[in-house]
Amino acid sequence: MSRGDSEGERSSRSEERYPPPDWFVETANVTDPDIGTRFEREWPDCWTNAADLLDWEQPYDEVLTAADDRLTWFPGGQVKPSVNCVDRHVSAGRKNAIALRWIGAAGERRSLTYLDLQYEVEAVAAGLRSLGVGPGDVVTLFMPNVPELPVTMLACARLGALHNVVYAGFSADELADRMASADSEYLVTCDGYYRRGSAVGQRNTADSARLRIDADVTAVLVGRLDDDPKLGRDYHGYGALRNEFAGATVEPVAREADAPLFVLYTSGTTGEPDQVTHSTGGYLSYAAWTSMAVLDIKPGDTYWCAADIGWITGHTYGVYGPLALGTTTLLHESPADHQAGGHPWASIERESVDVFYTAPTAVRSMRQRGAPPTDEHDRSSIRLLGTVGEPMDPTTWHWYREELGGGEAPVVDTWWQTETGGIVVATLPALDPMQPGTAGPGVPGISTSVVDADGDPVDGGEEGTLAVSRPWPGMCRRLAAEAREAGAEPDSPKAWQYLTGDRAVRDDDYVTLLGRDADTIETDGNAVGTAVVERIISSLNGVTEAGVVPVPEGKEVVAYVSCDRSRPDVTVLAERVRAQVAEQLSPSVCPDRIIVVPELPKTHSGKVMRRLLADVAGDRGYGDTSALRNPEVVGEIETVTREQE
Ligand code: PRX
Repeated sequence: MSRGDSEGERSSRSEERYPPPDWFVETANVTDPDIGTRFEREWPDCWTNAADLLDWEQPYDEVLTAADDRLTWFPGGQVKPSVNCVDRHVSAGRKNAIALRWIGAAGERRSLTYLDLQYEVEAVAAGLRSLGVGPGDVVTLFMPNVPELPVTMLACARLGALHNVVYAGFSADELADRMASADSEYLVTCDGYYRRGSAVGQRNTADSARLRIDADVTAVLVGRLDDDPKLGRDYHGYGALRNEFAGATVEPVAREADAPLFVLYTSGTTGEPDQVTHSTGGYLSYAAWTSMAVLDIKPGDTYWCAADIGWITGHTYGVYGPLALGTTTLLHESPADHQAGGHPWASIERESVDVFYTAPTAVRSMRQRGAPPTDEHDRSSIRLLGTVGEPMDPTTWHWYREELGGGEAPVVDTWWQTETGGIVVATLPALDPMQPGTAGPGVPGISTSVVDADGDPVDGGEEGTLAVSRPWPGMCRRLAAEAREAGAEPDSPKAWQYLTGDRAVRDDDYVTLLGRDADTIETDGNAVGTAVVERIISSLNGVTEAGVVPVPEGKEVVAYVSCDRSRPDVTVLAERVRAQVAEQLSPSVCPDRIIVVPELPKTHSGKVMRRLLADVAGDRGYGDTSALRNPEVVGEIETVTREQE
């Protein structure tokens, strides 16, 4: 379909599928057309393919067992995560390959080779060990995307300690809750950092959190704003520790495959944050395998995952996956859609980025601002594009492929969750045709279904809840325990079902995601995912993004819409929205109110905060906005909403 299609055509789930380009297939990591059936036939032994991407200290006895109270992946095996992500690349003769490139918000640049990374990780591990950190301890890391963050994560892993990364924008209460809940008595934080061009302090937040925790916390301070920050009696200096132990050798601790690697809390756009723990062998194998198979990462690549390391995407695809594969991972202090100086275009050009992975909301913001001409910023280095975190609408998908991928690069829309550890639903870029707006089939070895409220499969084309019906190595430890409880056994793979809480529809074997189960509009006894309506609205010319919410107070459906720079007439736009929704879906789900706003409220992890839109539309008062990346838009959203009443 070309870019000149009439509006609305791209909103529906169509048969429009694009085959992988030949030039991509020629060098792709996974090209065996039988991989899906082979994995199916050989399950669970197929997962040795993932485990084989790691070096094991102690080979595992079996791939999957059900014993005691949990499923265990690769029992008997032992791995050293920091060896897999660092040392082995040095010993393999790649010590001068760049492991990490960092671009600071103030324009600074740093590069660490694999040898540099090993040196830093060992020095910091020795420093933390001198403060008492040992196997099983939980170390909370409260920092933005700075090199010290992945270095400290790997240093913890080297000591057999668990890291607990808390997103740097969180409040003192949120930090304190996460430290207390994880029983963490160690904290590594920084004096401050740059957010949208301004320096913001971090130390006071950390100090307030420490006052609220009963435990005696040992804390380390990274100097991000000031190379030599005042430490007082409360902090050890990261720089001083690192210098004191520079050149130290720290023998990495071998971890049982099933031992926890880290703790992380889900972003929680609704409800309370939930603690998720991932295992060492299963998680790391799955991170490496999906990075290789879905994101097609190769050792020679420069790969940019634009997520913040404070979320699971940054853990799996910013740090562990790419470093396990020995690639160059690009780390930006600022998010991809909030940049000065022409970024992300400038960074893609300057760093010759091969693979770019970001959130649909970030792509929509880029689209809203428009792309610079290619002769101003060359992006021909891009080989593959990926998205994660929200449903991708076909219109934005096409823009992304056209403007960043030169109309040629494959795009993978990857569905997964903090709980799943890595990508679960996506096309394999050299094998499966891409369908804009649709994530694709389960990756090989994963079996998915769409089920009704009783857990029974619905017919193809019907909406329901997405379920994963077999365990996989990246599953979090809680899911492994629940699967066992529900009777899942390695030899009866279908005895358990993980209900993901996401609405979906399946056509053939491709899954289209329709938002969270809770985000639905009830109409004539049917539930329609709000994402279905949003997708139709987003396909209209001039519209960048839509957030649709049911508002029980007025028994109405409200659509918040952000537009591109052409700024359409609001009344005309509202008519077009209603006509399109009525034609493509049903008059019963036509939005009653259409409200044009400059931007939708988005969480730090790149999700539209629909709960807040519903609160504003229902005039309920919206409370705390600290989970928002763009809290400044809320006032304007409220004003425009009240004006339209
Ligand atoms: O609703 C789905 C959405 O993000 C949720 C998981 O969020 P979180 O645990 O924070 O992890 C985000 C990074 C994996 C899912 O339940 N989601 C994620 N990817 C997609 C998606 N929705 C639609 N399409 C996707 N590709």
